[in-house]
Amino acid sequence: MSAAPQPSEPTPPAVNRGEAVLEVRGVTKSFGALQVLRGIDLTLRQGEVLGLVGDNGAGKSTFVKILSGFHPPDGGEILIGGARATFSSVESARTQGIETVYQDLALIPQLPVFQNLFLGHELTRLGPLRLLDKREMRKLARQYLDDINVNVPSVDAEAAQLSGGQRQAIAVARAVRSARKILLLDEPLSAMGARESRLIIDLVKDLSSSGRVSIIVIDHNYAHLFELCDRLNVINGGRITLDVQVHETSIEELTELMVSAYRRQLEEVQNAGA
Ligand SMILES: Nc1ncnc2c1ncn2[C@@H]1O[C@H](COP(=O)(O)OP(=O)(O)OP(=O)(O)O)[C@@H](O)[C@H]1O
Ligand SMILES: [Mg+2]
Repeated sequence: MSAAPQPSEPTPPAVNRGEAVLEVRGVTKSFGALQVLRGIDLTLRQGEVLGLVGDNGAGKSTFVKILSGFHPPDGGEILIGGARATFSSVESARTQGIETVYQDLALIPQLPVFQNLFLGHELTRLGPLRLLDKREMRKLARQYLDDINVNVPSVDAEAAQLSGGQRQAIAVARAVRSARKILLLDEPLSAMGARESRLIIDLVKDLSSSGRVSIIVIDHNYAHLFELCDRLNVINGGRITLDVQVHETSIEELTELMVSAYRRQLEEVQNAGA
């Protein structure tokens, strides 16, 4: 159901489900005296959807911003397809195959929907000036959004005129359309109503069923996570404290495990202060 990738877009790699596409070892990050990540170890396998769960302020968005080249890590290493990777910028992470939908930076408000949808993958006309092909982008944007049932007033509307949920839907649609091998989605459903949540969930499921794209998704809604994900990792105290296959657990069990992890952490803090 997705629009055909444009010639200028990267071609996703051949499918080899189960192989590690992204490995994170001992990644640390502090902001001044605040030590947010104390040694994150995580593996993302080809074609899987990995849910990242944790309390507010646990460091999920910080971790995503490290993987997307927005923040440099203080320590640790990141491997893509087994090779050590460093990201000097968001663009550098993109060219190495990582596309991100940020929790707090979705679209450029002054640009129309169709240009936001093609951000970083603009189509240009043939010729020495390489002028933007706005007509083609407008047409393809309209087709694509119709295909995936995203409702916006017009593809010429500025992003600033859209609702929060519509903006998020465009940001997710853009990332899904980019055909990178790794997709990071930081709370993609947080501003969405039931209809838009459903279509984004279906879009992500559709994408993951191809096995070509590996996805990390952050969400506080366990029902969404249990529907979308193959595996869940819990981040707590700056580390991954639980790594579990969704089919081996339940919402109730995960809630219990998280509560007992927080209790342990609280006891440690109390004992350290005693
Ligand atoms: N640029 C920054 N400078 C200073 N502190 C930061 C910065 N970014 C994040 N923090 C702090 O790091 C901690 C982790 O924040 P982060 O946004 O990663 O949490 P989160 O797990 O994504 O939370 P939420 O579920 O609320 O989105 C918080 O205490 C936050 O205040
Ligand atoms: Mg966050």
